[in-house]
Amino acid sequence: MTPFARVIGTGGYLPETVRTNDDLAKMVETSDSWIVERTGIRSRRIASPEESAASMAEIAAREAIEMSGKDGNEIDLIIVATGTPDRVYPSTACLLQSRLGIREGVAFDIQAACSGAIYALSIADKYIRSGAAKNVLVVGSEICSRIVDWSDRSTCILFGDGAGALLLEASDQPGVLSTHIHSDGSYEELLYCPNSQVNAETGNETKGYIQMRGNEVFKMAVKTLERIVDETLESNGLDKTDVDWLVPHQANTRIIAATARKLKMSMDQVVLTLEEQGNTSSASVLLALNEAVRDGRIKKGQIILLEAFGAGFTWGSALIKY
Ligand code: COA
Repeated sequence: MTPFARVIGTGGYLPETVRTNDDLAKMVETSDSWIVERTGIRSRRIASPEESAASMAEIAAREAIEMSGKDGNEIDLIIVATGTPDRVYPSTACLLQSRLGIREGVAFDIQAACSGAIYALSIADKYIRSGAAKNVLVVGSEICSRIVDWSDRSTCILFGDGAGALLLEASDQPGVLSTHIHSDGSYEELLYCPNSQVNAETGNETKGYIQMRGNEVFKMAVKTLERIVDETLESNGLDKTDVDWLVPHQANTRIIAATARKLKMSMDQVVLTLEEQGNTSSASVLLALNEAVRDGRIKKGQIILLEAFGAGFTWGSALIKY
């Protein structure tokens, strides 16, 4: 029988430093009330100079492994989603593997911007269903604060740092029911982050920062996420009322509320973390899942819809029976 990929552990990490909307109002022309009204965000966490995507991933991963009761050496695949890797290479996944003291198996990064966790989960599910892996660690870890222009009020208010993790095992019990991932690379200009460049002759460095046409991204996100909800439910023969929890990518409360309306869900069935975390890109869905699992909101047997939308554009969903 084809095995299911079952979630057996979740973890998360947020850096200590809190940057509030009032702190930002001292840096750029904005206000707490503007940011709360347009985005729902009140504060975000900022990594210290000593922290990295790999160091934050390690803390989140150790929590997930501990919850699962597994030995780290049983993990045969590690996938890290990040747009802010420690190095060009080795991959952050390899750095994480080393930090966890694991010397065997496979480790690689994937880059799908804010949809990274859903992409990683989809790949993990395929590995487990095909029998190619038995225990897969999926991590999203991001230091967005290092690619944000802190003088640009239209982007710096949105992003934060953090890491989320989950551990999947091959099981005859569900499990991930389905995953759906998509890309359309023709929207590059609406949301992108160029590389930092060093001029070979002068040695001068030009930093690459997130560039976004927010209003257009907003409209695309709402439309696209509505479509993916339909696709996910149809492919599982389920009705909107069958979904117990929506665990969305945390970009903007108004985008999330539109998806909840599409599902005819009350906001009480939506896991929201952005108020105090902002948009942590590929970490956000995993951080939200971890929070709701650990505080007991998500219970065994419930149906959870995870979804995300990000640069590319990339988008995706996963339906899980917890
Ligand atoms: N404080 C005060 N005013 C601000 C501001 C800020 N932080 N940022 C932008 N503004 C101003 C703009 O300059 C503009 O002024 P103008 O009318 O004088 O030109 C006005 O507010 C409206 O800007 P607009 O971009 O149309 O606002 P918006 O309602 O679309 O909200 C976002 C801006 C960024 C909050 C919103 O578009 C958004 O959340 N988009 C999606 C972003 C996202 O999810 N990205 C990641 C995808 S993974």
